[in-house]
Amino acid sequence: MKNKPTKRKIEETEPEEEVLFTSLRVSEWTGFLGQAQVKESLQIAINAARKRKEAIEHILLYGPPGLGKTTLSHLIAREMGSNIRVTSGPAIERAGDLASILTNLEKGDILFIDEIHRLNKVVEETLYPAMEDYALDIVLGKGPSARTLRLELPQFTIIGATTRIGLMSAPLRDRFGVVHRLSFYDPTELEIIIENAARKLKVAIDKESVKQIAKRARGTPRIGLKLLKRARDFAQVKGEGKITKELVSEALKMLEVDEMGLDSSDRRFLKAIIDKHGGGPVGLETIASTISEDVGTLEEVIEPYLLQIGFIKRTSRGRVATPAAYEHLGKKLPEESKKQQRLI
Ligand SMILES: Nc1ncnc2c1ncn2[C@@H]1O[C@H](COP(=O)(O)OP(=O)(O)OP(=O)(O)O)[C@@H](O)[C@H]1O
Ligand SMILES: [Mg+2]
Repeated sequence: MKNKPTKRKIEETEPEEEVLFTSLRVSEWTGFLGQAQVKESLQIAINAARKRKEAIEHILLYGPPGLGKTTLSHLIAREMGSNIRVTSGPAIERAGDLASILTNLEKGDILFIDEIHRLNKVVEETLYPAMEDYALDIVLGKGPSARTLRLELPQFTIIGATTRIGLMSAPLRDRFGVVHRLSFYDPTELEIIIENAARKLKVAIDKESVKQIAKRARGTPRIGLKLLKRARDFAQVKGEGKITKELVSEALKMLEVDEMGLDSSDRRFLKAIIDKHGGGPVGLETIASTISEDVGTLEEVIEPYLLQIGFIKRTSRGRVATPAAYEHLGKKLPEESKKQQRLI
């Protein structure tokens, strides 16, 4: 069950969606909205590296999917005027694969490793000296006669991205000089992102519709853009090409996205806690098997937003649905839960 792809995962990597996201991907530092602190700190690191004429420090970006880790990595490369090579944790299968990537880098290049938590142990250990000393240790021969050869590498930068920082080993995490968590966006930031995207898509949209989409985007630009695109489809098929409030409502209804931006997976998660486990506390593994979902997806995609809006709480004994979640689903909070909530 561990690596079973889930519905939402598949949707997110649909080629059609990817094309849309690539074409909507911001290509200017100033076009990247929100995340002010992260941007400022990165800008300082970039300027300092530029002044010293050195490669920028290794950077680790983490946070829920769709918040802009990949986009930001490309923007950093652009700001540095560096080449960027893109790979991912699972794509680097052997130490030799990594060695060939690293030895082909030039001074100042950026290597972007997506899903860095999925690097295997051997590759990860090869990466340590490369990150720390710009050197590769190659073992020649086997057994007692084996020798290690140290190969010098040019100064380069790794930008790692992950949705699951908890799965990264401490030694790997510690080798990143700059570590940033991307957080969910405010509706006002999302409104601007959506307006800009609508302009790029050359579709007319009224302010009210922009607001409605922003409010229901789960704090996530990628979801906002996806909703925008669905609304545009509706406008083209059912309307006169302009996105209106009514068309947005219809599109959201079809996608089963409610007023809080929750979709059917989110609601299933909440209902599992409330209906099947008395409101919690209940372990994530149990919830996962109740709704036949993968634990990783719950932890990385579904849970962060529900925690953020205060619909669930994490306790030492498991997850608990809050009164706000009961209210949202139109369910009555049992007396016993009320007592428990006070204890938590
Ligand atoms: N701050 C932002 N301003 C404008 N657009 C953004 C911003 N952040 C993300 N986007 C847009 O949202 C989409 C998704 O962003 P991106 O692919 O960078 O997310 P990600 O964090 O790498 O997601 P994943 O973890 O799933 O790989 C892109 O089309 C991107 O242009
Ligand atoms: Mg990405």
